[in-house]
Amino acid sequence: MKIAVVGSGYVGLVSGACFADFGHQVVCIDKDPKRIEALKQNIIPIYEPGLDDLVSTNVKQNRLSFTTSLPEGIEGAEAIFIAVGTPSRRGDGHADLQYVYAVAREIATAVKGFAVVVDKSTVPVGTADEVARIIRETNPDADVAVASNPEFLREGAAITDFKKPDRIVVGINDERARAVMTEVYRPLYLNASPLLFTDTRTAELIKYAANAFLAMKITFINEVADLCEKVGADVQQVSRGIGMDGRIGAKFLHAGPGYGGSCFPKDTLALVKIAQDNDSPIRLIETTVAVNDQRKRSMARKVEKAVGGNLRGKSVAVLGLTFKPNTDDMREAPAISIVQALLDAGAVVKAYDPVGTEQAKLVMPSGITYCADPYEAAEGASSIVIVTEWDQFRALDFGRLKGIVAEPVLVDLRNVYNPEEIARHGFQYSSIGRPG
Ligand code: UGA
Repeated sequence: MKIAVVGSGYVGLVSGACFADFGHQVVCIDKDPKRIEALKQNIIPIYEPGLDDLVSTNVKQNRLSFTTSLPEGIEGAEAIFIAVGTPSRRGDGHADLQYVYAVAREIATAVKGFAVVVDKSTVPVGTADEVARIIRETNPDADVAVASNPEFLREGAAITDFKKPDRIVVGINDERARAVMTEVYRPLYLNASPLLFTDTRTAELIKYAANAFLAMKITFINEVADLCEKVGADVQQVSRGIGMDGRIGAKFLHAGPGYGGSCFPKDTLALVKIAQDNDSPIRLIETTVAVNDQRKRSMARKVEKAVGGNLRGKSVAVLGLTFKPNTDDMREAPAISIVQALLDAGAVVKAYDPVGTEQAKLVMPSGITYCADPYEAAEGASSIVIVTEWDQFRALDFGRLKGIVAEPVLVDLRNVYNPEEIARHGFQYSSIGRPG
């Protein structure tokens, strides 16, 4: 079947490439000519493991193509996915829907024959209804059904998440849309991925509720980690011990410096707003947002404590800047607040990230030095701080580090190492929610 995907950013590109890999005929559309030109030459604008191969294979086999022209791209498509950005609106935290609505208007004027218009972007409850209204208003003759199909992709693992999802949620208000969406996802549910059909408002809320729940779960274990430090318990064991209960589940119980990224901070905030606007506040998520915001900066106090209480003039090596490994995404990365707090405390910051340095330069506080590897960053440092758990930080050469640091102090905000192992290397060690 023919599928069009409007918006060739992270979600659009991963979805388009995966649909093509299922055997569908896919056109990815973006109004940015530079991006489309680059994609045609197989230059992928984002860092996502496996995506470049997936794109080039499907382009070569003529299942995937790119265009800046929406009318041309949607011609003959039975499903038209809207996968444009929905950033937080400045000032009030609501998702900004101007790009979604602009695409809806363009589709309305260009569409010929029946098509299902599918919201893939994360959008507030009621957006599918509004998109349907806009299309009707723009072109009363347009024959479309609007569906909501939220994505549950994690950056860095997006292709696996797309191809082996826990579930596929499809919101529809029209039986014709059910038939088309069943066909779109046939390759997946034949592999036993459950396809959950709901109405569009329910599907829209599922997305926010899922992300908010995961953010709350992380925040819960982060607060338990703080308590562990006070009472001498080990948060990793607590996570294992509670996670073995099938009702709780083992995933997303890894304590750290606070969640970041392009989704959790934005979606928790949007859910808080939606709930408040509907006179049904979700106080657990309001608290989650506040606790997580405070947590990021408070990580600098941990570093301060580790070096004896005063960071003024001391050099700190920050390892890992992106909000998590295997991405170059710096959006809402905990490193931004942590480094700012370190600078405020008078530290000299030298940072290294395997992939994210260029993005980091755009958003990190000024006055820090970017290094070519962990050892350059550690030269003369009074503390090495692991902020993001990139694999290459799991096997640091402590013998070498010992010879170049000013003081052998490791602050491990991702619990990458065992306290005993680090003690053997002669380093003073502090981590999250563990004794030592
Ligand atoms: C998240 C969701 O996991 C996806 O299901 C969803 O589709 C996506 O948002 C989205 O809405 O687009 P993502 O933001 O890529 O995916 O990253 P996650 O792997 O969920 O990590 C988010 C943050 O939580 C990171 O800062 C990570 O370090 C932190 N985290 C995660 C923890 O601190 N502890 C954990 O146990 C898990």
